[in-house]
Amino acid sequence: MSFSDKVVWITGASSGIGAALARAYDKRGASVVLSGRRADRLQDVVDVCRHPENHFILPLDVTREDTHSQAHRSVIERYGRVDLLINNAGISQRSNILDTQPEVERRIMEVNYFGTISITHCVLPEMVERRSGHIAVISSLMGYVSTPGRSSYAASKHALHGYFESLRAELWPEGINVTMICPGYVKTEIPLHSLRGDGRDHARMDMTHVKGMPADICAGKIVRAIKRKRSVVKIGWPHVGAVYVYRFLPQLYRFVLRRVYPAKLR
Ligand SMILES: NC(=O)c1ccc[n+]([C@@H]2O[C@H](COP(=O)([O-])OP(=O)(O)OC[C@H]3O[C@@H](n4cnc5c(N)ncnc54)[C@H](OP(=O)(O)O)[C@@H]3O)[C@@H](O)[C@H]2O)c1
Repeated sequence: MSFSDKVVWITGASSGIGAALARAYDKRGASVVLSGRRADRLQDVVDVCRHPENHFILPLDVTREDTHSQAHRSVIERYGRVDLLINNAGISQRSNILDTQPEVERRIMEVNYFGTISITHCVLPEMVERRSGHIAVISSLMGYVSTPGRSSYAASKHALHGYFESLRAELWPEGINVTMICPGYVKTEIPLHSLRGDGRDHARMDMTHVKGMPADICAGKIVRAIKRKRSVVKIGWPHVGAVYVYRFLPQLYRFVLRRVYPAKLR
């Protein structure tokens, strides 16, 4: 797929992987719709693009479902269609279950799961009508495995896999592609905005992310996977290995989690 005349809508485009994807699609000549809550940060991303005039800043909170249809209508008014929706907006977690308030668990699901499926619902009818369209979802390796301190985050990403596997099967005859992207650690702001058990931001970087893959490299791999219409792509060795250990040697995976993680988190 050439992206030169395509319309790409990215949620969570104000920082990290979403911002890197916006820059990557800008370079390839696409028209990019950038969504997120922080309009000033969306503007910063557009300001460094090669073709800022092609792009559309569309501030949006993925948990405000009442605003999504209008947001989609404004994209259609401007471009006439959405070729590729990248559901990227997300928040993570830094709390063990016993310390986590139920509202925090619900909030993570609202952003990562319900927000994602709400935007997807908005774009699908128009894609189905044209019998063409691509939905990408930035999940995580946590869509396959779970670790302590990330219960609701892992649950939200697992839920996305269940949902979008069904969507792929249902809409394949209609010409709609679905790509699930599962990165390991990427160097972004995600730890800063991760929720603690009481709902406050974690507000500091973790070494795992400081040493993570640069967001631009991750974005390049995502763009290639979408171009090749891959169903699922896992990004970031050696952490991808955990998914295979869990799949083929689950007892070993659980043994390592019990031995290594609790000591680290406490
Ligand atoms: N970094 C990693 O190691 C890693 C690994 C695996 C998967 N991921 C996934 O990658 C995606 C992007 O994360 P990132 O690492 O790039 O983190 P990030 O830099 O913190 O970016 C998160 C993006 O999500 C947006 N967002 C958060 N809540 C939102 C809401 N309610 N409505 C609209 N947008 C919202 C933020 O924009 P505003 O604050 O402006 O709204 C921001 O643009 C997430 O889905 C994350 O789970 C990240």
